[in-house]
Amino acid sequence: MSKRGPRSDALARRLARVESRNVTWLGDSFPVFWEAASGCHVVDVDGSEYVDLTAGFAVAACGHGHPRVVRAIREQAGRLVHGMGDVHPPAIKVELLERLAELLPYDEPRVVLGVTGSDAVEAALKTAALATGRPGVVAFSGAYHGLGYGALSVTDRSLFRAPFEPQLNPAVLRAPFPHPYRPPAGLPGGPAAGPAALEALEELLDGPGGDAVGAVVLEPIQGRGGEVVPPAGFLPGVRDLCRERDLLLVADEIYTGFGRAGARFAVEAEGVVPDLLCVGKALSGGMPISACAGPASVMDAWPASGGEAIHTSTFLGHPLACAAALASLEVLEEEGLAARAREVGGRWLDELRRLGEAHPCVGDVRGRGLAIGLDLVRDPGTREPDPELARRVVLDALDEGWLVLVGGPDGNVLSLTPPLVIEEALLTEATSMLDRVLAAAGF
Ligand SMILES: Cc1ncc(COP(=O)(O)O)c(C=O)c1O
Repeated sequence: MSKRGPRSDALARRLARVESRNVTWLGDSFPVFWEAASGCHVVDVDGSEYVDLTAGFAVAACGHGHPRVVRAIREQAGRLVHGMGDVHPPAIKVELLERLAELLPYDEPRVVLGVTGSDAVEAALKTAALATGRPGVVAFSGAYHGLGYGALSVTDRSLFRAPFEPQLNPAVLRAPFPHPYRPPAGLPGGPAAGPAALEALEELLDGPGGDAVGAVVLEPIQGRGGEVVPPAGFLPGVRDLCRERDLLLVADEIYTGFGRAGARFAVEAEGVVPDLLCVGKALSGGMPISACAGPASVMDAWPASGGEAIHTSTFLGHPLACAAALASLEVLEEEGLAARAREVGGRWLDELRRLGEAHPCVGDVRGRGLAIGLDLVRDPGTREPDPELARRVVLDALDEGWLVLVGGPDGNVLSLTPPLVIEEALLTEATSMLDRVLAAAGF
């Protein structure tokens, strides 16, 4: 039975009258309108409770409304709500940048703050163009880097790109991402996917347009692409290739950064230091803020401001977001949430793999830390994606009081990214819920 109540129904009707119809998908029992959230729990406007297995798009790493984050926002709001980011900056911007500098893998880090993840990616693309003098970028199949024009040019999803294709950067080349379960055309699956993808990347760089390439941008684990973990050795291979060919490696850790994948940064797990690193989402635990960072040797490709920054925005270094980020970083570090994600996520992955074995409609269970995907198929032999089943599971889970998102280019992956503070007992309950829902809806 639908858990959605009359207040959400009424809000859905009101929304349909005022919001562009592209934005929120309005179904019979979907969505529910959030009223409050705390830790891993969300309450909707009708008083129904949900466990959030999405962490609100992977943002609420330390849980929704962490008391220290909320206190920091309140205290900051009492002093200063808005500053002049690149002119007369709020003092707290300096504090946040200094704290970030301690956490980044660079001796002399330099940072450009943004508001959205898309902003951080676009700052990285501009930095790469300035530093290399080359407009070309290699991005990967299945990549998601955001939907602003710059970010969209490196994102790979025809649904998002097709209407705007003529306006996107033509110097972007697309390399196949090693997907062990769903290899892109021409690439093998399994562990052989990594070396084959490196070869394909070399061929691409040797081919037409390769000379114009200055940077390679990738997600160390593809998030919205369906929780795709490349085989070990791929990231260091790309790192080496970039070094040999004098290309900048841009790691988009907007999804994976600050603990989700079991390390502060997912690239760390393989000893890779990118030339530019993009973060967002978990950085603040809920306020809109992102960052593009790199060593001074790269970032100083930007000219010194002569009074007019050539890349900035009205809300750059927003005081409330800076306060939230400082508090959230404190919680993430003090509570050791990256290590927790690694341990708890590892055990949950094992549990979900056992669940997958009991349900033939689950073709693959993959992930790292607390970024886990269940790839649903119509037939385990052909591996044909089953987006209808994924959607059914999301709706049935909602009715049982669980928030789950679909991911992957075909919309057939159940994407599980709970807050990193989630109790293990709740994860076991989530496994039982998925077991029930898959038994009823799948095969
Ligand atoms: C890896 C990655 N990069 C960039 C973005 C874009 O972030 P935003 O939606 O804040 O612009 C996302 C969002 O999901 C993401 O997962």
